[in-house]
Amino acid sequence: MATMKSLIGLINKIQRACTVLGDHGGEGMSLWEALPTVAVVGGQSSGKSSVLESVVGRDFLPRGSGIVTRRPLVLQLHKTEDGTTEYAEFLHAPRKKFTDFAAVRKEIEDETDRLTGKTKAISNIPIQLSIYSPNVVNLTLIDLPGLTKVAVEGQPESIVGDIENMVRSYVEKPNCIILAISPANQDIATSDAIKLAKEVDPTGERTFGVATKLDIMDKGTDCLDVLEGRAYRLQHPWVGIVNRSQADINKRVDMIAARRKEREYFETSPEYGHLASRMGSEYLAKLLSQHLETVIRQKIPSIVALINKSIDEINAELDRIGRPIAVDSGAQLYTILELCRAFDRVFKEHLD
Ligand code: GDP
Ligand code: NA
Ligand code: MG
Repeated sequence: MATMKSLIGLINKIQRACTVLGDHGGEGMSLWEALPTVAVVGGQSSGKSSVLESVVGRDFLPRGSGIVTRRPLVLQLHKTEDGTTEYAEFLHAPRKKFTDFAAVRKEIEDETDRLTGKTKAISNIPIQLSIYSPNVVNLTLIDLPGLTKVAVEGQPESIVGDIENMVRSYVEKPNCIILAISPANQDIATSDAIKLAKEVDPTGERTFGVATKLDIMDKGTDCLDVLEGRAYRLQHPWVGIVNRSQADINKRVDMIAARRKEREYFETSPEYGHLASRMGSEYLAKLLSQHLETVIRQKIPSIVALINKSIDEINAELDRIGRPIAVDSGAQLYTILELCRAFDRVFKEHLD
């Protein structure tokens, strides 16, 4: 277990180092593509940012109606072992440790505006954020702009296709675990999330169906056909979620209260009570973490092969530019090299 944790930790660091070098996972260099990530997909305001926040267990993401998430957010969670250390750090401001999560949200908004202006435009260039906390599981999560059907005032006509292409570029990667978010108060048959997930992952092996907004379904309807796997069967079980409503957000209902409310909702629900132990944000976080471990175990041999290849490539690159080198990219290559060696070492210990 300890070894698996350190492997996931190293994977996070390698991904981070690759991003510094301009590898956003969008195209090009392949190390990123070998390493598992989790991305949220769904229509606008389906609850994607809310679900990610609950999985993390902290309030820090911009949420609300309309197009709020306008750049991909690559979010790396690192579990700290001392039981207290908790802070966030942006790649674009590496020396600043954020301990106030409201300030993290503000910085995401500001950094979004820095590239796109205070518009409804989107950008493909991700914001990279690391959260260190005793209360998280080691995961890399990606928050994405919502799929839409029409451009709104101030958006170019191309925005519908632009967003879909951006989202697809993340979720079509075979290493991407898809959280397909569908609001239960709309027909899940027409869910944009399920449609795109089916397209890029037809067998459903890397798709998790998440039904949000169970609390605001029409009276007299329920989501049991979906949650019990009869309506849209995926390889993994569906998870139902109750996030904070806009009224809760306005009243600043905190995460702990929200989780308690969600748990109570399922435990006392006449429809979903029998499923209570397999519903909710905390259960989803656990499920994801377990799945990630399984995937990493399966992928260890190919990751090690790729890392060995990368070590050779990095060495060749360092020979080419001559060492020692003063420029940042050189230092970054050394960092990746060190991380790859560490990964290799931990992996070999794991085999013994
Ligand atoms: P995103 O656009 O998909 O990232 O969605 P957000 O997380 O920003 O949520 C959009 C709006 O829906 C916000 O006002 C949330 O409070 C609300 N919302 C999200 N999930 C739920 C839910 O499970 N129940 C209720 N009642 N409201 C929700
Ligand atoms: Na939204
Ligand atoms: Mg969002």
